[in-house]
Amino acid sequence: MPRKIILDVDTGSDDACAIMLAWLHPEIQLEAVCTVKGNQPLKYTTENTLRIRELLHADFPVYRGCAHGLVSDLVYPRIPVTKNADAVDEHGNVLHIHKELFDLPEATGKCEEMPAPMFYVDYLSKAEEPVTVVMVGPLTNLAVALLIKPEIAEKIEEIVIMGGGHNITNVTLAAEFNIYDDPESALRVLHCGAKITMVPLDATHTAYISKKESDQLREISTPEANFAADLIDLRIMVHDQVQPLEVKGSCALHDPLCIAYLIDPEVLQNVSLCNVEVSLSGITYGQTIVDQRYMQKERNVYYAFRGDHERFAKILVDAFRH
Ligand code: RIB
Ligand code: CA
Repeated sequence: MPRKIILDVDTGSDDACAIMLAWLHPEIQLEAVCTVKGNQPLKYTTENTLRIRELLHADFPVYRGCAHGLVSDLVYPRIPVTKNADAVDEHGNVLHIHKELFDLPEATGKCEEMPAPMFYVDYLSKAEEPVTVVMVGPLTNLAVALLIKPEIAEKIEEIVIMGGGHNITNVTLAAEFNIYDDPESALRVLHCGAKITMVPLDATHTAYISKKESDQLREISTPEANFAADLIDLRIMVHDQVQPLEVKGSCALHDPLCIAYLIDPEVLQNVSLCNVEVSLSGITYGQTIVDQRYMQKERNVYYAFRGDHERFAKILVDAFRH
């Protein structure tokens, strides 16, 4: 029986690969995609999502979500992003790992009328069986839905979050982007009571995707496989220059690892039930703080400290061979 999921995205390059993997894989039933501001402003993350839907000739509904974090863009003492150095191509042009708009035809399809937070409340309230929610952008949409109706958490089988970092960060010395962009929402979701599995940078950087996989995708040579290969090659160029992984010529393809986990849980390694909190102040603003001690306090998150490259790579490429 395919696993029913709602996928929440801030469509950029790795979100696009997560949408494609979820749509193409027979063990996943993609019930809906919700968009949020994150990698780019909401209008771009939503348009990019619609363009991917049309690239796939898919028909999943798209719900437009929150254009801002709960308070994060209002918080004055917020520590500024310490941007990575710029990666450049052979002509010296700056490379952007998440372009404003994908080089795909403008979408003709539209989003649903209902805003994403209301979709969560409506869909989960009516759900006859619990559903899995996969969050691969800032967690604003679900946090707002939980503010409106906290009991929807009882209808969530598992929340899989791409976010956080224990030994690895990517937007400040302490924080990972999805959490940093709206840490107040992240903290609210982390304590909503549903089962939570966190797929942090520690896992996505070890479950790397390399040039070998993008070459295999080009051999498949469908439009979606070629587009995924283009996205991966771009990410490899950027990672090699500004955040190299264990293996040169590889990239962290964060978001689809959350989908791969639902297909084969063994893609996540060193998973430990921890107490995970989020710093909301000072130089650690947006940091996920992972306490592995066995203690009285609630342990709320299954935290993956590593990922498996071989398993992830096989799931990803095989899905495009559909
Ligand atoms: O830190 C990586 C995460 O931030 C990924 O989900 C990427 O798409 C961005 O949203
Ligand atoms: Ca994302």
